[in-house]
Amino acid sequence: MSKLTRTALAIEKDLLGRFDKWMTSHGYSNRSEALRDLIRSALVEAEWEKPASKVIATLSIIYDHEQRELPRQLTALQHADHHAILCSQHVHLDRHKCLEVIVMSGTTRQLRRICDAITAAKGVLAGKLTLLSRKL
Ligand code: NI
Repeated sequence: MSKLTRTALAIEKDLLGRFDKWMTSHGYSNRSEALRDLIRSALVEAEWEKPASKVIATLSIIYDHEQRELPRQLTALQHADHHAILCSQHVHLDRHKCLEVIVMSGTTRQLRRICDAITAAKGVLAGKLTLLSRKL
């Protein structure tokens, strides 16, 4: 962690009380750590708004592996952007459904495009993209 700087802020008593309740219910033991995480989260969200921002991401999908051509299509899509795909983890959920978590690195624009192509494939039942930033 880099060097810490002390600061003060003015805040309504009621708002601070609500923040303290939120903080406790989310496992924080002090305001500083909770505020730092909220600030980082806001900055990460700002990065996501810029198409050229370099981010890391996970794409989690659930799909039916018996859907005709789908496993082959998912592999082809990942090979097409192999520079952005760092790794993937496959879990056989039941007799028909698979969970795959794909870890990616690239620009926001590129990773959203890859996500859209994969989740739009016929037989992909659900998809969730989680973007993170290296700038934390
Ligand atoms: Ni499977």
